[in-house]
Amino acid sequence: MFLGIDLGTSSIKAVLIDAAQRVVGSASHPISLSRPHPGWSEQDPEDWWQGCLTVLDQLAATYPAQVAAVEGIGLSGHMHGATVLDSADQVLRPAILWNDTRCAVECAALEQACPEIRQITGNVVMPGFTAPKLLWLARHEPDLFARIAKVLLPKDYLRLRLTGEYVSDMSDAAGTCWLDVGRREWSDVALRHCGLSRAQMPRLVEGSAVSGTVRAELADRFGMRRDVVVAGGAGDNAAAACGIGAVRPGNAFLSLGTSGVLFATTARFAPNTAAGVHAFCHAVPDTWHQMGVILAATDSLQWLAHLFGVEAPHLTAALGETLTGPGSVMFLPYLGGERTPHNEARLRGGFVGLGHASDRDALTRAVLEGVAFAFRDCLRVLADAGTEIPRAWAVGGGSRSRLWLKIMASVLNRPLDLAAEGELGAAFGAARLALCAAHNVSPVDVCTPPAIAATIDPDPAWVDAYEDAYGRYRRLYPAFKEFTCS
Ligand code: XUL
Repeated sequence: MFLGIDLGTSSIKAVLIDAAQRVVGSASHPISLSRPHPGWSEQDPEDWWQGCLTVLDQLAATYPAQVAAVEGIGLSGHMHGATVLDSADQVLRPAILWNDTRCAVECAALEQACPEIRQITGNVVMPGFTAPKLLWLARHEPDLFARIAKVLLPKDYLRLRLTGEYVSDMSDAAGTCWLDVGRREWSDVALRHCGLSRAQMPRLVEGSAVSGTVRAELADRFGMRRDVVVAGGAGDNAAAACGIGAVRPGNAFLSLGTSGVLFATTARFAPNTAAGVHAFCHAVPDTWHQMGVILAATDSLQWLAHLFGVEAPHLTAALGETLTGPGSVMFLPYLGGERTPHNEARLRGGFVGLGHASDRDALTRAVLEGVAFAFRDCLRVLADAGTEIPRAWAVGGGSRSRLWLKIMASVLNRPLDLAAEGELGAAFGAARLALCAAHNVSPVDVCTPPAIAATIDPDPAWVDAYEDAYGRYRRLYPAFKEFTCS
């Protein structure tokens, strides 16, 4: 038996699988997020840990025999979050998350002070990443900054509580802006420019390697063996790639979660910093990946649902499943700034083309289309970085809307594959990495793709109309930038 734990932005989830990779059981627990100021996004690491204990206690109570047979645990989590600890491992302040954009000034300062940083890390320094968050702390909370003994990523804080070890894996560490991504090791140059050193960083392992063993008192609490290993694991996107079997160069998936991600596995480190493409290590040794990341995918729909006082699936269900081509209202999903391709924290979105007839359904449709156009931007800049994506898996909560997938396939003009029902997300990918670590086997052999349950093809009747609409979407951007950023 193997356990995968995924610390998501809105909930923590654990999945138990057997040696044949069949899902035995799962549990999840909600996690709240606070936005104390515009552009800020924080969570209390203690909530992560209490959530982790809750899901593990729940699994232990429901599946005691299977939990007693667990050999390995894999960790996955939202990337980039700055979790800062003092020398007694006490959390110094709420963690600053991936979708927090307070540190745009520090991004520019870091790029200016260290021009080689793009080359080292393969990425533009963006406010979502960890390094500029630490520069922000140095400037705005200097007393606290002086007490920082360790900086951990969110899932690695869970590891510390589970095992007592300070360890990260390559895929998550790549999102800090302190990793030499090509060499897969910390960059002293990047760290020094943030007033930090290797001593404040966790040790690095590959995602499929052993990082430690579960503390004895916790093993006893859950009724586990005393020798359960914890794998390096992965950032949530690389973990999702392991879950869906996108571990070989050319494999791609599109994730409709809180954030939107277009992910492609690459054989080598291949950055395109100019257009905000993320170039990170994969959770598989000697493998990398590129991603386009948009900050508000299902988050945009949740926002609209909140305004109308309903649940998001209620909004999409009201539209039915028939594709009717681009609507007359357009939505730009820049609710909290954007990463790919604009890298602009101050950018904000909006609806254009509203009329008396614009009702809830029209706005919902505009949101689904606007998010699809943002993915189209990602497809374009990944192609500019040398990565063609002829087809992709669709994963994440938003992929449960058939209409959204039809819009997405037609906007991208690419077929999208859906896996047969099951737990194939980041938690499952993390469980697969646990299996690799416990049995010392290669993730390429373990992380095979699932059967295709359905393929959503682009609708030839609407592809051209969506391409025209995408052109209009792109032409709106300069006006939005001017309105919100100057
Ligand atoms: C990736 C990113 C998000 C988070 C949250 O760069 O910021 O996808 O990992 O899921």
